[in-house]
Amino acid sequence: MAIRKIITKKDPMLYKQSRPVVKFDDRLAQLLDDMAETMYDADGVGLAAVQVAVLRRAIVIDMQDGSGLVELINPEILETEGEQFDVEGCLSVPGEYYETIRPARVVVKAQDRHGEWHTYEETARRAVCFCHEIDHLDGHLFLEHLNPDPHSPEEQEEQLRARMAENDPVELDPNALRKKG
Ligand code: NI
Repeated sequence: MAIRKIITKKDPMLYKQSRPVVKFDDRLAQLLDDMAETMYDADGVGLAAVQVAVLRRAIVIDMQDGSGLVELINPEILETEGEQFDVEGCLSVPGEYYETIRPARVVVKAQDRHGEWHTYEETARRAVCFCHEIDHLDGHLFLEHLNPDPHSPEEQEEQLRARMAENDPVELDPNALRKKG
């Protein structure tokens, strides 16, 4: 495994469309292993292949909520429902955190590293993260989803506490709203 360099928003590659993965081989496994190591090293909760300059439809996610590492290959959003606000950051947009509007619930199908299809139904912060990472595959950043009328820091903090009470994957510290993908 190796830590790869994460490209930032100045790099034009970040705005390109990623291509489907067609070969489920050792090279894909190596890419996914490197992406996970790179994500953990950067203290992120998600990473898309384009962020390490590989234009393939591959994502790793670990919300650090105990449910472990998820690998999404060729993901497709099947369903979205509702709205929620969250404060998002991105490993490719270092130091910037803004309130966004995202679906409250999302259903995604994706292949694993062996090519098997799985369906994921996600809510709360996990839904935000899935949408954020899938956006990367189409060249989109979270900056396109900003809430034009953001809540106050107190209201954001209140939501954070409410989510903790529901066992949503956040920790009670000010940086819990600042996890990056
Ligand atoms: Ni990101």
